[in-house]
Amino acid sequence: MSKNSAKFQCNNCDTVFSKWTGQCSSCQEWNTVSQVTKTSSPVALKARSGTVTPMQSLAQIQLQPTQRMISGIQEWDRICGGGIMPGSFMMLTGDPGIGKSTLMLQIAGRLAEHYRVFYFSSEESLEQVKLRADRLACWHDNLLFSDNAQLDDIIATAEQEQPDIIIIDSIQNCYSSSTSALPGSINQIKESTFKIMRLAKEKNIATLVSGHITKEGSMAGPKTLEHMVDAVFYLQSEDRWQTRILRSVKNRFGTINDLGFFEMSSIGLQEVKNINQSLLQEASQNPGSALSSYTEGSRSLLIELQALTITSNYGIPQRVITGIDQKQVVLIAAILEKCLGIKLNAHDIFFKVSGGIKIKGSATDLGIALALLSSFFQTPLPQKSLALGEISLTGNIKPINHAIPHIQEAEKFGINQLFLSRHQKINTSCKTTTFTTISELLTLFE
Ligand code: TYD
Ligand code: MG
Repeated sequence: MSKNSAKFQCNNCDTVFSKWTGQCSSCQEWNTVSQVTKTSSPVALKARSGTVTPMQSLAQIQLQPTQRMISGIQEWDRICGGGIMPGSFMMLTGDPGIGKSTLMLQIAGRLAEHYRVFYFSSEESLEQVKLRADRLACWHDNLLFSDNAQLDDIIATAEQEQPDIIIIDSIQNCYSSSTSALPGSINQIKESTFKIMRLAKEKNIATLVSGHITKEGSMAGPKTLEHMVDAVFYLQSEDRWQTRILRSVKNRFGTINDLGFFEMSSIGLQEVKNINQSLLQEASQNPGSALSSYTEGSRSLLIELQALTITSNYGIPQRVITGIDQKQVVLIAAILEKCLGIKLNAHDIFFKVSGGIKIKGSATDLGIALALLSSFFQTPLPQKSLALGEISLTGNIKPINHAIPHIQEAEKFGINQLFLSRHQKINTSCKTTTFTTISELLTLFE
């Protein structure tokens, strides 16, 4: 006995409805809901039954020697985990105008020195791409372009020509005629991603695809896209010095949450190889500034914490905090108030992390406390000093995990004094000042 079940589904976001509706209540698109008839019968189930697949032990599985594709753009190569893995499928996302096309063209240009690269520009005309390529000086015989946005054509071309890497800018602008979903719709993107993934895996062609970002800051399209691809990189910007931060949020062939730094210039994105030097150069020697260190991916970043405490003119004092969880700063201010008896509750607190970097974790607790106290007492901390320590609710200063990479990086950039927990066990050439409790911090401001 066969059973027919009729349902309605939005071809933009896959939401299922029991009856037809003109507007999808989930994605708010009009005329995207249509009837889907699904037949499930014992006959159909039987037809779907699979064949027995041979299982293999680890000894039987042959590893192919793979050589990663090195572009020579070190910040990019490092974020990829040491170059692009052949046959991997990577996605680069970020706000419009952030520099995705620029970065992809630069990568394409450098890779073309050793590999065959096909660049499909579905978003911009070939004239626009040529103008940009002129500006970025990335001409090469091995780098070929097309503005075809038909995904089936792109795949057929790649299958026949077998380039080492294809670059598609962008996935949202590609369309496939084999699905009825609208171009740019979630279903269309899903289908395109699936086809590209098969191309990458079956033909061993590395693929780098750009994708748009939603207002909320995640990749436009269903979250499942991020599961399908091997790596997802976000290109983000901060207001100051044209810095672009490339962050790996997923990487099957490298570390996640790794950061690469670039600066947008008139000749494209330039690598910032010594971000710690730039960050330290800009650090102030004025009251309210404290240096600390923060680990992101495989990197220790030397950061300046800036605090401004000022007598409040309002009933409820203001707390304006950027670059760090507001609660962490408010909590440390409360501990300082309780343990040291200073009246921070009558002060507005403004707090920021320099460089537009966003930090989390407790290793910077001591740095936050010192920045607040330095501003409160209007006394600068010693030059070239760095604070590393966690503060407990009871006011104890505790050691941090993995202090060595922070300290090695700090020493490299001329830090010569460390503020630490008395229980922190380390070997360093720096002068160390250690504390057990928060009340001992007052000795720095006498
Ligand atoms: P683009 O790569 O087109 O961004 P996306 O692909 O993420 O939308 O970059 C656009 C911006 O970068 C644009 O405002 C111009 C600027 N830009 C430079 O400043 N220098 C350059 O060499 C290039 C190519 C772009
Ligand atoms: Mg673009």
